[in-house]
Amino acid sequence: MKLKIKEFSNYLVDFSVVNFQKSLGNKVIILDVGCGEGEFIVELASRHPGKEFLGVEIKYGRIIKCLRRTKLNGLSNLKFALCDATIFIEKILPSNSLNKVFINNPDPWPKEKHQKNRLISASFLKALYSKMKRKGALYIKTDSKEYFEKIKEDIKKTKFSIDRTKNNFDSSLTLTKFQELYKKGDRKILGVKLIKK
Ligand SMILES: C[S@@+](CC[C@H](N)C(=O)[O-])C[C@H]1O[C@@H](n2cnc3c(N)ncnc32)[C@H](O)[C@@H]1O
Repeated sequence: MKLKIKEFSNYLVDFSVVNFQKSLGNKVIILDVGCGEGEFIVELASRHPGKEFLGVEIKYGRIIKCLRRTKLNGLSNLKFALCDATIFIEKILPSNSLNKVFINNPDPWPKEKHQKNRLISASFLKALYSKMKRKGALYIKTDSKEYFEKIKEDIKKTKFSIDRTKNNFDSSLTLTKFQELYKKGDRKILGVKLIKK
């Protein structure tokens, strides 16, 4: 099973940090955190061939689906990291490298005893802030009201500003697989757009 990933090495991030930092250069970089099976980021990368896209996902089976989808679409501007997003952001990404970041539907871990597993915390947001370029945008969406309230509290502990404006890029964003499911189930999607000033 694990060997399958070798077929797709062209679409995987090169973790030898020197090369990776060099390869990012001054390009516009857009990151999808917890990208699932990649529908959202593949669609975005197809629509914006002049920009560079990264997806980070912790589950092997889901990354394989992302890689297949990327190959099928013949994309050369999208790469994936099979990695814990916290490690990827804190230890691997260079500072001031990201133009846009999406966190779509992070696992909500509703039970109190599991909430320590949640991805978003004040320290996670601070790490992300340091890896974003000035004027970079972070988009967070969830259907969990309780998680959303906690995220808003965490945002207050960071230097991010909330941006309530919507530009053409924002209006063109498609729903992710999970957001499609929430919509079918009449579940409200809560979201916030943050800016690094
Ligand atoms: C609810 S799914 C949402 C998937 C996709 N963003 C969407 O909206 O369709 C959450 C995703 O985050 C991934 N994930 C959870 N914790 C993660 C972590 N620490 N690092 C990277 N990915 C993670 C899960 O494996 C899962 O694919």
